[in-house]
Amino acid sequence: MLTPVLSAHWDEADSFTIEGYTRHRGYEALKKALTIPQDDLIQLVKDSGLRGRGGAGFPTGMKWGFIPQGPEGQGAKPHYLVVNADESEPGTCKDVPFMMANPHALVEGVAIASFAIRASHAFIYIRGEVLHVIRRVQEAVAQAYAAGHLGKDIHGSGFDLDVVVHSGAGAYICGEETALLDSLEGYRGQPRLRPPFPATHGLYASPTVVNNVESIASVPSIVLGGAEWFSGMGTEKSKGYTLYSLSGHVKKPGQYEAPLGITLRQLLELSGGMREGHTLKFWTPGGSSTPLLTAEHLDVPLDYEGVTAAGSMLGTKALQCFDETTCVVRAILRWTEFYAHESCGKCTPCREGTFWMVQILQRLEDGTGTEADIATLLDTCDNIFGRSFCALGDGATSPIVSGVQHFRDEFLSHLTSGGCPFDPVASTVFGGVSA
Ligand SMILES: Cc1cc2nc3c(=O)[nH]c(=O)nc-3n(C[C@H](O)[C@H](O)[C@H](O)COP(=O)(O)O)c2cc1C
Ligand code: SF4
Repeated sequence: MLTPVLSAHWDEADSFTIEGYTRHRGYEALKKALTIPQDDLIQLVKDSGLRGRGGAGFPTGMKWGFIPQGPEGQGAKPHYLVVNADESEPGTCKDVPFMMANPHALVEGVAIASFAIRASHAFIYIRGEVLHVIRRVQEAVAQAYAAGHLGKDIHGSGFDLDVVVHSGAGAYICGEETALLDSLEGYRGQPRLRPPFPATHGLYASPTVVNNVESIASVPSIVLGGAEWFSGMGTEKSKGYTLYSLSGHVKKPGQYEAPLGITLRQLLELSGGMREGHTLKFWTPGGSSTPLLTAEHLDVPLDYEGVTAAGSMLGTKALQCFDETTCVVRAILRWTEFYAHESCGKCTPCREGTFWMVQILQRLEDGTGTEADIATLLDTCDNIFGRSFCALGDGATSPIVSGVQHFRDEFLSHLTSGGCPFDPVASTVFGGVSA
């Protein structure tokens, strides 16, 4: 196990203040980073093996290296750092508590990353509904300016940085990095065609790095601890520590910081297990866009490779755990309603497909569908997956395809019992257990 890094001081009353942060070596990494040549900083992050914590696990240092590394000005376009703090995936709940408890680690990471990629403007794009988080990060940024960690000639290095905290308007699609950039520019948030990629044509058509909150907040500890220290944790290709978010029918839901590669069984031991008298039925390894796993997968290493080999994706490490009282069809219907609502409408497979999948799932859940509906559902997924403009469409198919794969009998039992078997009135199959 690991001594916590990101969450080390969350239990201290002033963990979110600049005083609380500096008491634990806060902003020392920035001062050190400002003495390191930018290309060496990028190499350090590459060597650490840090992979993006926003879902896809793309190597962070490599992403920084894609930015044309000449100096700004002299006719070159400005560079931008954009922090993705939209966090709207169902089940994903790490960035919000992180920014509430330790916003200065993010601000320090922003300063270091901006210096490394030679950006003098950075944006933190926060989901609009979490006003308390926006205020907290704004306050942290103001404190950092006042202490000379942001602004002009930071610590006499000649490096200038302005940080803007931007509030989104509460759309899941604005977490997709190119939709986020459109939204930040003041347009309706819809994904852009790629290529060109944000590394060359991002914000205002300029070289831009978009990184998740946790990715950026991990950088100060890498600067202080070194690449070897960081890559000494985790597994062969998934290095370091991370936040696992446990939610659902567990005794102690919350954030559990651990090295990559820990298993759900171990995390459940830490969190007191499933609620008393109940057993795990299904779970998501990384939010609702990652295929469902079951109790058979308790010992899968929760790193990028392990979860992929088990047929799912690590995603955001949002472990939503459901016990045997949950109707899987109803859970999938709820998620699909979310995707239909959040589909931005730009492409037909996702816009139309998610709408029709809700209709079919509702019939199945009500017990008024037919077995052919299950085939139609899978066929619709087949027409969305890989044929949509962005990954929202692909993600919408994940719970359905995996749900049918693992729980086809439960779909069928809705048909034979003429309703949801978990509904106390209609139940014949599961003995009237209430969901
Ligand atoms: C529909 C959708 C929503 C997303 N929401 C988020 C989000 O809220 N936060 C995030 O960091 N990444 C989100 N992503 C992933 C981003 O597009 C991008 O990969 C990520 O911000 C890159 O940061 P990283 O390399 O540090 O992981 C989302 C992707 C999709 C398709
Ligand atoms: S897949 Fe969905 S969210 Fe993505 S562009 Fe198409 S309609 Fe919009």
